Amino acid sequence: MDVMGTVRAVKTASNEIASSSAVTNGVVDAGKQLDTAAAPLSAAADASQAAEGARQLISNGMPSNPNWIQEATFYQVYPRAFLDTTGSGQGDLRGVINRLDHIQDMGIDAIHLNPFFKSPMRDGGYDISDFRGVDPSLGTIADAKELIDEAHKRGIRVMTENVANHTSNMHPWFTDEVAQLKYIHANEGGHAALEALDKNDLKYVWDFTSEADGPPKLWSDTRTIFEDYEDGNWTWVPEAQGWNWHRFFNHQPDLNWDNPVVVKDMIANSDYWFDLGVDAQRMDAVPYLFERTGTFPDGRPMVGENLPETHAMLKKMRAHTDAKYDSRAFVGEANMMPEETTPYFGSGPGDELHALYNFPEMPRKYLSMWSGDKKHIAEAIEMSKGIPKNSAWLTFNRNHDEMTLEKVPEQVRLDLQEMFRKGNPELGIKPDPDAPRNLGISLRQWELLGENDVRNRQMNALLYTMPGTPVLYNGDEIGMRSIRGMYDRDGVRTPMQWDDSVNGGFSSADPKDLFIPSAVNDAKVASDGVNVAAQRLDPNSTLNHVKKLIAMRHGSEALQKGAADIIPTSSDHVSAIMRSTDNEQVLVLNNVKWTPESSSIDLPELVGRRVEVLDSNNPDRVISTLPGKIDLASNESLTLRILPDEA
Ligand code: BGC
Repeated sequence: MDVMGTVRAVKTASNEIASSSAVTNGVVDAGKQLDTAAAPLSAAADASQAAEGARQLISNGMPSNPNWIQEATFYQVYPRAFLDTTGSGQGDLRGVINRLDHIQDMGIDAIHLNPFFKSPMRDGGYDISDFRGVDPSLGTIADAKELIDEAHKRGIRVMTENVANHTSNMHPWFTDEVAQLKYIHANEGGHAALEALDKNDLKYVWDFTSEADGPPKLWSDTRTIFEDYEDGNWTWVPEAQGWNWHRFFNHQPDLNWDNPVVVKDMIANSDYWFDLGVDAQRMDAVPYLFERTGTFPDGRPMVGENLPETHAMLKKMRAHTDAKYDSRAFVGEANMMPEETTPYFGSGPGDELHALYNFPEMPRKYLSMWSGDKKHIAEAIEMSKGIPKNSAWLTFNRNHDEMTLEKVPEQVRLDLQEMFRKGNPELGIKPDPDAPRNLGISLRQWELLGENDVRNRQMNALLYTMPGTPVLYNGDEIGMRSIRGMYDRDGVRTPMQWDDSVNGGFSSADPKDLFIPSAVNDAKVASDGVNVAAQRLDPNSTLNHVKKLIAMRHGSEALQKGAADIIPTSSDHVSAIMRSTDNEQVLVLNNVKWTPESSSIDLPELVGRRVEVLDSNNPDRVISTLPGKIDLASNESLTLRILPDEA
């Protein structure tokens, strides 16, 4: 590494992007932006690769289908909490291989694996110390390959993580860079380190103002995401005599994507996993790749997020990947509002990320159920419209993180966090001072919905009836509970409950050695019957309901890819959505109120038409023709296929 010169911030601040000629009305000319940064991936090289034709694309053996992600039904696996095959007290990749039958049996056709790379595990594996190595506690690279191959044999595609924004501070790139900076300070004096920083040849993001001056003012309007844990985005690193930039934990330094070496290495890492056979990569924390503040061309404030350089880089990675591999995808984790996320699909037919998590949609389903007002679901549907045809939203109810309320108005978030802190007997929500976490609530779906089976099933039904590609978080297929209070962000990452034996069949280790305690061992948690073995045998279990929902979605092109039109009803509590294609109409009704409700449905042309009940969480539901007015039970969800006219 060539580090010389005097001490100052590595990055150029503020307005340089806004004034760049490569940005016109917020649209970025990827070629111009990346001339330097992505030289190894020049447009000419990509174009000539593309011209070679589809037969040159590298296949991983799965059927060629560039739009598979729109049709898939995902299951998210947190490998450390899935199945322990070694008795270590933590799950491993072989455990996932052993349980592929469960995943296949549910009808899942794609899995998302949380990180299993080499890591000090201070952020659930999102703190990576080797992008190409498997953490020894989770297995080997051969296990990873076997898992991909075994999943493929069952027709299941595999999405792994691409944590592009940062590494662990134990990554050799970081430890080497700190050692280098220490050397420079010791041998050439502080002034000598200053000049090199403008050259952008550091792999991380530094500011070399003095420790005594306190955290740098640079980019100080960029928010702190982990506000429960961090005071800001700069941390002083004494050995390096510099301030280090991080958007998440202080032990997760942000990579410097302005450095062409970082770009080259990170793209090579991405290729490494595609070469191993993965079908998709979840681009973690994607809005934060580059650092700048200032103003966007349209006048919006730029606070270090969603920068034109980030879009240009992702376009470049997509072009590179599409030109090299068959049927692979990038999925973005951008916890932003649709006006900020939609640009990540790219322009025209969609030339940036293939899919994005629908963060604003997720809490709005809960908001409707907490408030009893259907308007939030309607808002979520309206917000999600207008994405390119070849793109997809990934919808979800929960994941391994706290349930984020980042994308609801601030006062609403504060009120909800307060509600969970104090409890709400009317909604069945128990008081829990530890439930609020960062900008969200650290509970599983079960507790979020007041520990109520009917509402839990309604939420599951919403996952498979709202537009988008559904992602089910492991454990939610059996209604797993959280462990409250004790375990930081890990209370929602509790071990899978396979049966009712000690540790829920997750591990043979001593219960005290589990990396996170099992709810099955915890007398305070009502986990009786909450396990896969028991629920398999019970036709009315949550598990069998989820299986039916997945089969329903697979059997309905309207639910899979149909339009979603909001149908007026006479009640604020009854949501009616028509999912339709040219061949099929499916009416999705939900009483989001926690008491029964009667409502008219404004579909005069369909009244009297025969209907087939595809799903209902009301065991007493009987209906054979569409009425003008319907009585729905408390939190009833009802999915009806409109049958062809008998005539
Ligand atoms: C992950 C979190 C993680 C954060 C920082 C998020 O996208 O879901 O679990 O802490 O990135 O890596």
